[in-house]
Amino acid sequence: MTKTSPSVIACSESLALMTPPLWNRDAPVLRADLLSTGGRVWDAAFRLVDFFEASGPLDALLKNQSTERRTLVNVLELGSGCGWLGAVCARNWNACELSARIAVTVTEQKAHDALDHLERNVDNLKASGFLPEPWVLQVHELSWDEPNTAVLDRDWDLIIGSDLLYEPEGVRGFVGVLERILRGDSTSGKGNCMIYAHTKHRYDTVDELLYELTREAGLELRELRLPNEEASALPDSPPLFSELFPEHRVAILRISR
Ligand SMILES: C[S@@+](CC[C@H](N)C(=O)[O-])C[C@H]1O[C@@H](n2cnc3c(N)ncnc32)[C@H](O)[C@@H]1O
Repeated sequence: MTKTSPSVIACSESLALMTPPLWNRDAPVLRADLLSTGGRVWDAAFRLVDFFEASGPLDALLKNQSTERRTLVNVLELGSGCGWLGAVCARNWNACELSARIAVTVTEQKAHDALDHLERNVDNLKASGFLPEPWVLQVHELSWDEPNTAVLDRDWDLIIGSDLLYEPEGVRGFVGVLERILRGDSTSGKGNCMIYAHTKHRYDTVDELLYELTREAGLELRELRLPNEEASALPDSPPLFSELFPEHRVAILRISR
């Protein structure tokens, strides 16, 4: 899974670093046939790693929300499935952050053996040497239907997730969790946000409900582009319900207060 394009370019007189080092994506995760959809890694997770890699140090993503320089950044992942996204972020953010330690908490619901599967993967990841320190990746139970206050009442700097929404009940639970953990406003400079990779048009009814419920909850939902991506590189999404078989497209959404 590691990208092969060179990060070092030869110049006539010396070697110069022209791009930041590419992220190591080789987190060893186990797949499983589960009733849960979390038994494999979904495409939106890969796309979100492209986005984080292109964004550089995590600090750049926090800048609009918090001007404070901190020594510990707490990141929460919702619906982590195999734990691949959280593990790749924990490894690579810690490798490129100079002063802050990034602690990533991956979560799953107990239903359909999803939490057991995630715990097995986190144990395996910790034993594999992929992570710089075992403590940078923690696992917790979190069902959006029966929210775990021990997780939701903590102060999260950033929330991440990929490919989480595919039925209406899930959207309601997801937005309910965000209502509890997203805080702050841009005027005070304090606050947090969720960066969520969503497959648009998998189900237009689900997309419509997501837009409606976030609006009703007073949350802002904005699509982000990769820093190096031409605005024209992505097709504009067709309006909801306008095509019988619309093309699926992974959109990086920033959800905030
Ligand atoms: C399509 S999978 C995506 C897994 C992972 N994020 C990825 O991109 O590879 C959706 C995940 O959301 C989790 N999920 C769905 N509904 C949930 C709920 N109500 N509470 C907690 N997790 C939920 C599922 O267990 C599953 O792991």
